[in-house]
Amino acid sequence: MKKLSECRFHLRTYGCQMNERDSDALAAELLAAGMSRTEIESEADIIIFNTCSVREQAERKALGKIGITKKLKRDREDLIIGVVGCMAERIGSELIDKMPHVDFVAGTGKLHMIPEMIKDALEKRKKSVETGHDDSECAGLFGSLSRRSDSKQQTPSAFISIMRGCNCFCSYCIVPYVRGREKSRPMREIVDEALSLVDSGVKEVFLLGQNVAGYDPDSGRKRDPDASPFAELLEKLNSISGLSRIRFTSPHPADFNARLISAVLSLPKVCRSIHLPVQSGSDRILRLMNRPYSADKYLSIISRLKDSCPEMTFSTDVIVGFPSETDEDFLATRSLMKTVGFDNAFIFKYSPRSGTKAADLPDDVPISVKEDRNRILLEDLASSVEERNKMLVGRTFEALVEGPSKRNSERWTGRSDNNKVIIFDPCVGITPGDLLQIVITRSTATTLYGKILQ
Ligand code: 5AD
Ligand code: SF4
Repeated sequence: MKKLSECRFHLRTYGCQMNERDSDALAAELLAAGMSRTEIESEADIIIFNTCSVREQAERKALGKIGITKKLKRDREDLIIGVVGCMAERIGSELIDKMPHVDFVAGTGKLHMIPEMIKDALEKRKKSVETGHDDSECAGLFGSLSRRSDSKQQTPSAFISIMRGCNCFCSYCIVPYVRGREKSRPMREIVDEALSLVDSGVKEVFLLGQNVAGYDPDSGRKRDPDASPFAELLEKLNSISGLSRIRFTSPHPADFNARLISAVLSLPKVCRSIHLPVQSGSDRILRLMNRPYSADKYLSIISRLKDSCPEMTFSTDVIVGFPSETDEDFLATRSLMKTVGFDNAFIFKYSPRSGTKAADLPDDVPISVKEDRNRILLEDLASSVEERNKMLVGRTFEALVEGPSKRNSERWTGRSDNNKVIIFDPCVGITPGDLLQIVITRSTATTLYGKILQ
């Protein structure tokens, strides 16, 4: 029997940045317990799937992959399989009933228990299932990222989780059920984590939460609607010397108040690129979605930001084919998207999630209509981004150097303050994390090419 410290783990992540960040933190825990990581599944002693439940498609994909590991286990009896994260939380022990080759199941609030669960599987061949949320979970994985020691350490940017869970209960969304109620981390703890990341060479922090604009470490008391603890947090982080950039995702439009708008505009390290999920441009659909704002309110946030800072770029999430969505509702979304001129948008086809309010409504928009609407919005987006990218040729941006491009390692990529990825030929002595002036020489619908200004 192998000891925990002799084991190699393979970790596969599905879904959002929150999950990626959880996986980073989980990997750090496992490395700290003496295990090593492998990217090659067939070399692993333990395979862990960190799953997503937001859409049925994401669950189906993960279930398919987990199913395949049954064959691997036939040849290697000692192989350990773990399923963790949102789908683990949602399905719980039924996962082991349906797939008896799975050894442990850990929900989103129990990730800190995984080293113990692996030990039980190794030493006692014991299967375990841990789900649910309690107060101990925050301490568990929140702060462990600064101990991160995997290969990603080289990148100049790091995620910081500032809160967990969600209280918004958008009618289509499973997140409040699988990630529990909102819990914000104390401000001091976040600032300390940022300081230690900056000490280890990080230049950009990416603040994560299901609704970062609702960040509220004193959530017990009634909040003044004009206040914004998140804006206070941005101010504190902005004053860290050695930190160049602050990004965040995702804010809810209902919490993006005037205090937050003025913080974003006045703090130089806060990037000029905002991801603000709109979900729909139809007020009727927004009401059915339990999103407490109107299309006009959304547009007024965008115009207040854009009027003061024309460089600012925007991205969003949209759901097409929500129950009862008519052509007219869809056209309202299409028109809102044209008005804003997003630089990126994640378009999702509505997928009913059992247990949510919207799952009680008939899923009455045919899949072919959902697909058409999805395609139309993506085509609109591509042509408007192509037009705007053309206008950037000749302009100079300060880019944070990320490293060799994934497609062609002779070229490097950098990212502008307003989140444009720029591809360029590197110069001698260049390192990830450098800030360089780059002039744009060519553009396509998806990419900007540039040259370093000496
Ligand atoms: N169907 C389709 N898309 C969904 N999202 C959340 N729940 C669903 C669902 N049931 C989308 C929303 C959210 C993003 C993370 O996923 O647009 O912002
Ligand atoms: Fe889901 Fe809405 Fe919370 Fe986002 S804000 S996680 S869409 S409930």
